[in-house]
Formats: sequence, structure tokens, C-alpha cells
Amino acid sequence: MKKNVPSQTLLKAELHVHIEGAAHPELVHRLAERHGKNLDAFMRDDGSYIWSDFTNFLECYDNVAAVICTPEDYADLTEDYLLRNAAEGCFYTEFFLSPDHVAALGMSYQNLLDGISEGYRRAQEKSDANGFPIEARFIVTCLRHMGPEAAIDVAKRIERHPHPLVTGFGMGGDERLFSQRAFAPAFEIAHKAGFACTTHAGEFGGPQSVKDALDHLPVRRIGHGVRSIEDADLVKRLAAENITLEVCPHSNIALGLYPSLQVHPLKALMEADVLTTISSDDPPFFSTSIGKEYDEMQAVQGWGRDVMEGFTRRSLEAAFLDEESRRSLLERLDEEH
Ligand code: ADE
Ligand code: ZN
Repeated sequence: MKKNVPSQTLLKAELHVHIEGAAHPELVHRLAERHGKNLDAFMRDDGSYIWSDFTNFLECYDNVAAVICTPEDYADLTEDYLLRNAAEGCFYTEFFLSPDHVAALGMSYQNLLDGISEGYRRAQEKSDANGFPIEARFIVTCLRHMGPEAAIDVAKRIERHPHPLVTGFGMGGDERLFSQRAFAPAFEIAHKAGFACTTHAGEFGGPQSVKDALDHLPVRRIGHGVRSIEDADLVKRLAAENITLEVCPHSNIALGLYPSLQVHPLKALMEADVLTTISSDDPPFFSTSIGKEYDEMQAVQGWGRDVMEGFTRRSLEAAFLDEESRRSLLERLDEEH
């Protein structure tokens, strides 16, 4: 069987990526043409996206994402992104999708699921044929800036319309608005319906937002969580409660949380026994990819292959997956060792 990933390439897993945020500029250009939309205000000629700070990033994100507006667009996006990840050795991916985001474009939740499921099917077929099978699951998110009532609607929708690939519930959006606690009713609905939960915290909200999430939401993982490092007791709590952080180093640097990878707190969190994983968040917006995240953290810290494999192992251990799938992915990681 032909293998398109060199055997020395470390197997990777990605837990934190927003599907629209993963749209490669080439694909975005194609979709903009498909729908006769002009993105000159948000994209440079070299394909990079134009934004200045977090608020403006969220605006740019929404404008770029507005060209992804049919099930076929989502199928193309999902296929393109998963095949790019596969080419970098990523064999398991969980990505966020937001029914509120697509509703604003006139698409239903069912349309969204149909599109991404088709894209995943195509990506699986091609990666199987290449001898590098991949798997993915979807985490449905509410948007924090849309408020707690909208979040309850999203949670009820996934409760009423279960889908085999939707295994988690989460929250993204502007962490500076509302409190984590305000979203407890939505998270309770999702949790009781059997969905594993995660929320963005400790990115722009600081350590208090991580504490609020742990106190009030049924979460097993925290999206980012890096600013927990500012509170020693919180760091101890994360380690004691086995909370996994979905760390996205280049996103944190691009959005101005830290000046460089050298001073990023990933290493300090690991040394404090916090469970850490590596992801890319919105890769082309932050000039990154899952491969670059692994490679550059490894180069900066001088970590060996075992340390890097640890990130993949912890990702699979914290993945929102059934136990049989988890076991078989972990076995594959052991075989490649
Ligand atoms: N949506 C897309 N990227 C995000 C981020 N880094 N934080 C919060 N919401 C997001
Ligand atoms: Zn994110």
C-alpha cells in the first residue's frame, strides 16, 4: 500500500480547531468566486488574512467565513482541511462547528452536518487509499457573545438531533462577554444528554474564567487555559482534577497573549503536571498548521520524539470518543513508536 506520510513523521492529533477558521486562503478564494463575493478588505494578495486585534479578528473571521455558505462549501472545506492535516501526520481531529454561525447565512444545522459529513467521508476515502487512515469527530459550539439563551437552543438542538459524529459540546466566541456561569444551563443540557464538554477560558478572560468554568460547567477540557499559569493554586487544581488543556501556541502569540514561543507557558504547565495537548485553533489566520505547532514547539524547547508523542497520547486520552475507537487509535500510536 502506498503511504503518503513518511514513517518517521510523528503521528499527531488535534483537538481544538474551528472549521471555518481552518479555511485555507486558496479554498476561500475559490468559494468567494463561486458566490460572487469580494474579500479584498479581509485578505492580502499573498492570501494572508487582514485583522489587528481579537475583536477585529472575530470580525474578519465572520466575513471570511461568510463565503462558506452551502453544504457543498462545507464538504469542500472539511475534505481540504482534513487532507492537509493527514499530509502532516495528523490521524485524529476534533473540530468545532457552530449552528448559530451558519444560521446567520441561511443554513440549517442539518445542512451543516450533511456538508461536513460528506467532506469527512471523502477525506477518509482518499486517506484510506493513501494508506494513512484518519478519524474525526465534531464538537458543536455555542457562541459566547450570542448569550446564554442562544446557547440553550444549541444544546437542545444537539440533544434532539443526535448524530454519530457529534460527540461534544463547547463554547467559543468573545470570552470578555458574560460569565462562564451564565452558560451552566446550556452545558447541563448537553452533559445530561451524554455530550462531553469543553469551553474557551483563560485566553482573554484570565485565570478567573478558568476557575469559573471548573466551578460551574461540567467540563473535562479547557480551550486554551494558558493564563491559568498566573495563579499557582489554579495550576495545582488543574493537575489534581486531570483537566486537559487544548493549548494553541501560535494563536496565543498572534493574538498578543505572549511575545514568542520561547516564553509561552506550555512548558511551565507541563512541568506542573497539567495535562497539555497542542492544536492550531484557526490555522491560516495565525499562519500555522498542526504540523508547524508540533515542529516549532519541539525546535524551541529541544524536546525529543517521546515528549512530542506525549502530546498525541494525551490528546487521544482526552478525546471525545467512544472507548473502542480510543483504544484502536492508541494502539496505532503504539505501533508507530
Ligand atoms: N473563534 C475562533 N477562534 C477563536 C478563539 N481563539 N477564541 C475564541 N473564539 C474563537
Ligand atoms: Zn478556539
